[in-house]
Order: sequence, then C-alpha cells, then structure tokens
Amino acid sequence: MAELQEVQITEEKPLLPGQTPEAAKTHSVETPYGSVTFTVYGTPKPKRPAILTYHDVGLNYKSCFQPLFQFGDMQEIIQNFVRVHVDAPGMEEGAPVFPLGYQYPSLDQLADMIPCILQYLNFSTIIGVGVGAGAYVLSRYALNHPDTVEGLVLINIDPNAKGWMDWAAHKLTGLTSSVSEMILGHLFSQEELSRNSELIQKYRNIITHAPNLENIELYWNSYNNRRDLNFERGGDITLKCPVMLVVGDQAPHEDAVMADSGGQPQLTQPGKLTEAFKYFLQGMGYMASSCMTRLSRSRTASLTSAASIDGNRSRSRTLSQSSESGTLSSGPPGHTMEVSC
Ligand code: BEZ
Repeated sequence: MAELQEVQITEEKPLLPGQTPEAAKTHSVETPYGSVTFTVYGTPKPKRPAILTYHDVGLNYKSCFQPLFQFGDMQEIIQNFVRVHVDAPGMEEGAPVFPLGYQYPSLDQLADMIPCILQYLNFSTIIGVGVGAGAYVLSRYALNHPDTVEGLVLINIDPNAKGWMDWAAHKLTGLTSSVSEMILGHLFSQEELSRNSELIQKYRNIITHAPNLENIELYWNSYNNRRDLNFERGGDITLKCPVMLVVGDQAPHEDAVMADSGGQPQLTQPGKLTEAFKYFLQGMGYMASSCMTRLSRSRTASLTSAASIDGNRSRSRTLSQSSESGTLSSGPPGHTMEVSC
C-alpha cells in the first residue's frame, strides 16, 4: 500500500437554519494511481458503516451531493453516519490542471484508490452512494471488495462499456459539440437542457467555466473507456450487498434503464431520494421505524417486489401504480430496490 499523507485541513460547511454545524475535514492521500482528495463530515459512529459518495463526470462532491445531503429530511439520516465524500482526481476545488500527457486513472483504477482512503481513515465498511461514473466506480469497488460494502445506492448507472454504435454516435457528436455540451448531455436529458431551467443554467455555467475543464475531460474519457461490469443475473459476478438503483424520470430511453439516463434526481428530487434512502437503510436495520415519516410508514406495507442488476433486468414499478410520488419498490435484504424519480 502506498504511503498515506494528509495535506489539507478544515473546510467550512454551510448551515441549515436551526441546525448545529458538523465538522468537515478535507484530506488527500497518495495511492498507486496518484493522489485522491476526500472530505469527511461528522464523526464515526460505533458499529455503523461510513456513507461514502462518488460523484459523476463534470461535478465534484459538492456540486453533486450538497443538495441531497443538506436537504432538511436527510439530516435525521446522516446524523447517524460519518460521511466520506470522494472527489475524483483533479475534480477537487482549486485542483491544478494536470500536465499535458498525464495518464488519468481508468474507472477501475479509481475504484482501486478507495482502499487507501478507508485504510487512512481506519474505516472497515461503507454504504456507497454513487452517481453515473461514480456509481460505476463504487460498483467495481464492491465487486472487488464485497466484504467491505454493506449497501450501494447507484444513481443512473450504466454498467456496460460503450458499444460501437455508441462510439460512432459519440464521435459524431464530438465533431459538432464541445466537451462541456457532451457532459451536459450525459448529466441531463435533452428535454431538461432545452427547457433551460435555473438548475440547468447553473450547471451549464459551472461546467463551461470550470477552471479544471481539461481534468474533467480526462475523467470523461475514462468514463467513455470503461469496460463492462459484467453483472450476470444469478451468475458469479454479482453485487453481494443490498442495492438501491435510482433512475431519473427524465431518462430519454427509460427501457435502456441503466444506460445514460439523464436527469440528476439527487439535485432535482432530494425529497423522494431521501425517503427511498430511509426505506433502504431501514431494510438494512439502520433506521428505526420511528424515524420514518408518516408518509413513509403508511407506504411500507405496499412495497413488494425486487429486481436484479444486470443488462436485462426486470423493472418493478409497484409504487408508481399506488402513489403519485414516484415509483419505488423494495425487496428483501441482499436484493435490489428500484427507485425512479
Ligand atoms: C454532508 O453533510 O455530508 C454534506 C454536506 C455538504 C455537502 C455534501 C455533503
């Protein structure tokens, strides 16, 4: 294991009205694939895993997860967990642009950096929360280190390598679009982009004016060069932990399910996601039912089915038929819960 080194100190966390501050501390560690920066919020809780997040391309931990983790109802959940928010290399605030020719880690290598973080913090298990490329990284980590992952929340994951059709489309788009427009097209649906809401304007502005756009392009290239995760229903390559799969309702091809769906539910639907996350943690034995909202409690009885994570997975939409607040279904612990919001 490479030598671990702490190089940065305290970061401020904006407060929600009426809430007390929780310490946030940013660290960097050296790994065989270069340095990685992460920010820890809260303090370790005995006998509980850390929540570890991994953001999507074009974002960093704050632009990806702040709206969710600072959402009011989320506080009753996260106060029970220490959180480790990883920034992919070169994505941390103030990151210098990598020199020309720098070999950016592959997504598999990004996953291989995570043990260095956990070893540095002396944390043994995690619940991973990943979006897009970050969901892929955490899935790869979970496949390689199943004993250290108690659960995974995977938002808009595409577990497959790009096929030749995708590559052709990608190359064609690259002829006429800038990298930032391509990344926006990965993060959001075309409908959202043309509606151009304040949220889209904000993220378009963040990405197009990012001082580290060259670094972002390197993460984007690693994402586009990912290999298949090779999940197989009932096969040898499966995630052993409970999984909460989240697909944005803005998905242009909802039936391609985990494929580039667009929509960032952790930004646009933090309430639905929080509620689903509570169910998920409750299924894992980490949330007392007294912590469930009245709405959640009344729904619990109607949750039924499960699905498995592979290229041909079945989709269960039980709650979509019984609730106006999105689709959500859960299965027994060790299985997959699907949320579309
Ligand atoms: C947290 O409390 O975990 C958090 C706060 C701000 C941004 C992201 C996460």
